[in-house]
Amino acid sequence: DKGNHRHFMAKEIHEQPEVISHTLANLIDMAAGRVNFPDLGVDLSKLSRVTISACGTAYYAGLIGKYWIERYARVPVEIDVASEFRYREPPLPEGGLAVFVSQSGETADTLATLRYCKSQGQRIASIVNVRTSTIARESDAVLPTLAGPEVGVASTKAFTCQLAVLAALAIALGRARGAISAELEQELVGALMEVPRHISSMLSDESVYEALAHDLSRARDVLYLGRGVNFPLALEGALKLKEISYIHAEGYAAGELKHGPIALIDESVPVIVVAPKDELFDKTVSNVQEVAARGGQIVFVSNGESDEVGCDVVAHITIPDVHPFTNPLIYAVPAQLIAYHTAVFMGTDVDQPRNLAKSVTVE
Ligand code: F6R
Repeated sequence: DKGNHRHFMAKEIHEQPEVISHTLANLIDMAAGRVNFPDLGVDLSKLSRVTISACGTAYYAGLIGKYWIERYARVPVEIDVASEFRYREPPLPEGGLAVFVSQSGETADTLATLRYCKSQGQRIASIVNVRTSTIARESDAVLPTLAGPEVGVASTKAFTCQLAVLAALAIALGRARGAISAELEQELVGALMEVPRHISSMLSDESVYEALAHDLSRARDVLYLGRGVNFPLALEGALKLKEISYIHAEGYAAGELKHGPIALIDESVPVIVVAPKDELFDKTVSNVQEVAARGGQIVFVSNGESDEVGCDVVAHITIPDVHPFTNPLIYAVPAQLIAYHTAVFMGTDVDQPRNLAKSVTVE
């Protein structure tokens, strides 16, 4: 049932405030402002490394998790797409923690990687949306995303719920290792609890996306740029756009642009820039100016002001001011809405894009 929405994807995007709240409530002691994490069966204070593996959008969630865990828990994180990880058969540290991220819990490559990690003595934790799935059953610990059934082939609410769990995991690890103070933990937990309210406010008016859809629908190629913890969002935004609008899109780390992709830029190429006002904002802005100087059409997704970019922009998607820790959860929403409205404008089959299946159980 799509409710009042035209597509399951729209419904699932709009469910995010509620399902992120549920997912967080399961892992956070709201009154105390602390994470309340299940026992993963390993001593988190002694972990030498965390290994993460997944496919597609779930992999991008894992990549954001890597930035968070390394920053807030100071534990090295190895991450790879499951289809590479399983054949690479990397050496793994004794007693390490391996984390698998999967909406369906049935993705063949992710499952094969889980089994490899188990054979190497890793403790297995999975972040899954389907509690009865194979990946959930074969894990030592399950950290559920409480997103409810996701029908649209393009993952939306499962992704942001995966981020919510990974954010809580980073805090739990940070606390166990003494990398964050009780004060900082409260600050980060408080920031997470604000996320649903901010996402609701962003979903109250989508007209900017409808307007942008006209421009993007004419593009043959779109570039997506981001830096730091928001770089994986550029990858995710590009994947969403490809999947449902069939426009060729590529995500790049903003600093990589000058190492090749800038050759693609001319007046016909929209460049979507994920640019929260964090400590990397000025660096990203200087990359934007390099693109603008070559005629690229800038779509500025930011809580900053348009005049802070120092060049013309074709669209400014204004994002609320939030704690920088939660930026990836917030900036995921424009990535979804840009793809959704472009696809709707182009008349593609948004919920059932060609060539794709919801669950990839073949290798
Ligand atoms: C993209 C998308 C896919 C899945 C990937 C993994 O919108 O939905 O990239 O994220 O196939 O699927 P799960 O999470 O079920 O393992």
